[in-house]
Formats: sequence, C-alpha cells, structure tokens
Amino acid sequence: MPRDISGPPSIDLLGEQIAALLADPTLSHGLARTLRAAAKEVELNRYHRASQRAWPNGLEQRPAKVQIGGGSHQIDGFFNIDLVPPADLLWDVREGIPLRDNTVEFMFSEHFLEHIDYPRSAKQYAREALRVLSSGGQLITGVPDASFVLNRYPAPPEQSAEMVERWYAKRDCREDINTFLDLINYVFRDQDDDPTYNPHLWAYDHEKLVQLFTEAGFTTVEPWTFDPTLANPKREWASVYVIATK
Ligand SMILES: C[S@@+](CC[C@H](N)C(=O)[O-])C[C@H]1O[C@@H](n2cnc3c(N)ncnc32)[C@H](O)[C@@H]1O
Repeated sequence: MPRDISGPPSIDLLGEQIAALLADPTLSHGLARTLRAAAKEVELNRYHRASQRAWPNGLEQRPAKVQIGGGSHQIDGFFNIDLVPPADLLWDVREGIPLRDNTVEFMFSEHFLEHIDYPRSAKQYAREALRVLSSGGQLITGVPDASFVLNRYPAPPEQSAEMVERWYAKRDCREDINTFLDLINYVFRDQDDDPTYNPHLWAYDHEKLVQLFTEAGFTTVEPWTFDPTLANPKREWASVYVIATK
C-alpha cells in the first residue's frame, strides 16, 4: 500500500522516506551522499524540537558559565549546550542560543565554530553570544588554525607524515591522507561524508576570529593562552584561541 503523503509535510515522515531511499543499493553515489547529509539534519532536528517542546518559552535556568559544542568534553560548573548527548541541553545553536539577555558571565567553545555555516550561522552565533553575555562577560573561542597548515605548505614529506599522524592516526580515514595537500583538504572539509563526523564548513585564523567578533559588537578580541584545565588538552596543537569581551 503506498503511504498517504497528502497530509501536511512532516519532518519525521521525510526522515522515514530518506531512510527507505538509502536502503536501495542502486541509489547513485551523489544522491546517497546528499540524502545521508539530510538524514543527519533530520535526526539532529528531532533533538532540537524535543527541547523546544520542553521549553516553549525559553530556558528557566540562568547559567553563569556556558559551554557550546563541547561534545564529550564536559566542563565542571558549566552548562553544556550541544546538538547531541551528553550535553545538559540538546540544542541546534544555528537556531540561536536559548538563554536570556545579559545573563551569562563566561562562555567557552572549541572546535565548534568551524562546524557551522559561514556567514549566516557563524555571524548569528557571534551576535547571540554577545546578546546573552552580561556587560564585561567573556567568550573564549578555539578553532583549528588554518594558518598553521597553510604557512607550512609546501612541506617536506617528514613534516606531513608527523602532522598526519598527530591528527589522523586513530581515524578511519587515515589511509586516505597521504600528502600535505590531503591534510589541508581535511582541515578545510574534515570527512564530509562520514556519518560520525560533522564536516568543517569554514576555516579560521586569528585575523578572521577578530574580525567576526568585532563585527558582532564585542569591545575587545585578544589571543587566549591555552589552559588545559578548561580546554580539551588534545586541542592545544595547531589550534587558535581568542577571548572576546562584551
Ligand atoms: C569536533 S566536536 C568538538 C567537541 C569538543 N569541543 C572538543 O574540542 O573535543 C564539535 C562539536 O560541536 C557540536 N556542534 C556542531 N554543530 C552544532 C550546532 N549547530 N549546535 C550545537 N552544537 C553543535 C557537535 O555536536 C560536536 O559535539
């Protein structure tokens, strides 16, 4: 029996239809890639809608310290917001930050910003962070430092080998990363067809971070000295961090 699809469009029904199409082994590679990306968005949207239903008028909590996109790196004393568990709140930050104006003293994120689209979502994130921070509040942002790889290109094979090992030794894609340019490609794209990874959508360096947060209205944007008691120790190498003050 064909399903009745004459009712109002439903994201859940769309998810079921995509799953059914993806089960077809004759589906073309290009269409399957696109549908896998859509299936991931549908799944993430399910979490987001559940949180919206739980707090239709916005969050009651007024956390003073907030981490965005921390993944499994939860920080004690921080309210963790991420698309996926184990965060305190499962929320798609591309839809805004569900906190009240001028309430947060300190925000932290690392290796998150490059996963949201630029300019729309990245600029909105910077403006939303400014909105929720109280006067004098601070936002630390760390990202892979694109200038780190670009400044080393072209690199001798030994240097490529060392960098590839540091970044990709434990990942499934390891055997496909062979030259320095492969490494640069991965810094800019990062496994865009791997269901367990979110791709990189924009690359940043110090100058770009300063421009982004200054344009959003932050008063100062300075380099931040890596502190492993706060940041994920595995991020120290080849990352760039700034601290922006409202
Ligand atoms: C590469 S992980 C980094 C995790 C952790 N910060 C670290 O450095 O180990 C990127 C994190 O950002 C989260 N993320 C990506 N897009 C997001 C969005 N739109 N809203 C909220 N979190 C998002 C992902 O779910 C993931 O946990």
